[in-house]
Amino acid sequence: MPRSYEKVDVVVARVPDGVRDVFRLQVNLVVANVLVNSGWEEGGDGEVYVVFIGRSGPMWEIFRCDDIIFEESDYKIYKPDLKRVKQKVNMPVGSCMIASSSSSLQPAGGTNTYKSRDAYVTVLHSSETYVCGAIALAQSILQTNSTKDLILLADASISPKSLRGLKAAGWKIKLIQRIRSPHAKKSAYNEYNYSKLRIWQLTEYDKLIFIDSDLIVLNNLDSFFSYPQLSAVGNDKYMFNSGLISIEPSQCMFETLMKNIVTFGSYNGGDQGFLNEAFTWWHRFHSKVNHLKVFQDPNNGKREIPDDLHTIHYLGLKPWMCYKDYDCNWDMSDRRRYASDSAHKKWWEVYDAMPGKLKSFCGLTKKMDARIQKWRGIAKSEGFRDGHWKIKVKDRRRTVHMML
Ligand SMILES: *[C@@H]1O[C@H](CO)[C@@H](O)[C@H](O)[C@H]1NC(C)=O
Ligand SMILES: *[C@@H]1O[C@H](CO)[C@@H](O)[C@H](O)[C@H]1NC(C)=O
Repeated sequence: MPRSYEKVDVVVARVPDGVRDVFRLQVNLVVANVLVNSGWEEGGDGEVYVVFIGRSGPMWEIFRCDDIIFEESDYKIYKPDLKRVKQKVNMPVGSCMIASSSSSLQPAGGTNTYKSRDAYVTVLHSSETYVCGAIALAQSILQTNSTKDLILLADASISPKSLRGLKAAGWKIKLIQRIRSPHAKKSAYNEYNYSKLRIWQLTEYDKLIFIDSDLIVLNNLDSFFSYPQLSAVGNDKYMFNSGLISIEPSQCMFETLMKNIVTFGSYNGGDQGFLNEAFTWWHRFHSKVNHLKVFQDPNNGKREIPDDLHTIHYLGLKPWMCYKDYDCNWDMSDRRRYASDSAHKKWWEVYDAMPGKLKSFCGLTKKMDARIQKWRGIAKSEGFRDGHWKIKVKDRRRTVHMML
């Protein structure tokens, strides 16, 4: 990092092309640091400009399209929002390092009265399967005494009755048109997962924490709004899991993502693959912020989850698709890595604390029940050693089947 620059008015940088080019990241970070050092410090008036030269322009992970004030052929002029740039230069350079939340990350400086407009957001599209999940998610967030708004984006497949339930659970509802993934197979489970991109259109907010509807929150997450776009938990060494991400809404960012919807691939056809192409430089939350419920050891019968988790992400069959006293992931050999009695119990604790009228959205249909019983029968005849198939189920949801 250059140290010898003092006050500058304009930075001019030639940026190399290439999405995963490390030199490109270095150039972007040097520019960001020069700007922050120059414009932020005592006496700085925040009036700094950057001219980027090069076909692809700067990385949008660091320089927002909202700050472009002029562009022509290979030249783009930005007047960056230094508060946001400062947040980014405070992050570790490599996403292999866990970013730490600290007050220095809070947008402050100069405008101490600045109050970030924040919200949690989730998306429901294409079917009602996750309505119960979203209701439990909202209730779990409220149970942590969060002070943030709760926004739910729903497409036309969510019935008025479900929308009323979701509203009663705490969500403010916004209707959207779903977005098809050009990389998904027709009628695949993830065909419309690109609907999630609509969260960038919520420009009445500065910062959002998006949460998939198959998570619940156990410990307050409000302090994580201090992290910049895009922060997430690693799915593996390189990719982030898109089930919980912090983002900064922006209409031009939404349009940029839509423009690249075909050119960027997606390793799984879903939004996670796409977003990992769009945001190659991201900030790593501790894994307890989005605890992926999966166990590598197939014979570990206990499967206790740690007790300091912020969330649980219910991979595999969702709790409300099983019995209350019985995690049906145990019954399928390709799902057992997701089975955990202690994680299952946590979800049902949120359910138990919900008002009765919300519980009614979490019933079993005859079809769901039949599926559980079918797999239980298979587990029994295979004689699975964990013996969960022996449990005498008391779940009252079995006696009153839900109509869908
Ligand atoms: C939430 O607030 C209530 C009422 O002030 C309090 O009793 C409860 O302990 C709080 N819960 C958490 C998780 O902080
Ligand atoms: C895609 O969306 C569907 C339906 O909401 C959901 O079941 C699935 O888990 C999502 N998959 C990915 C990869 O995001």
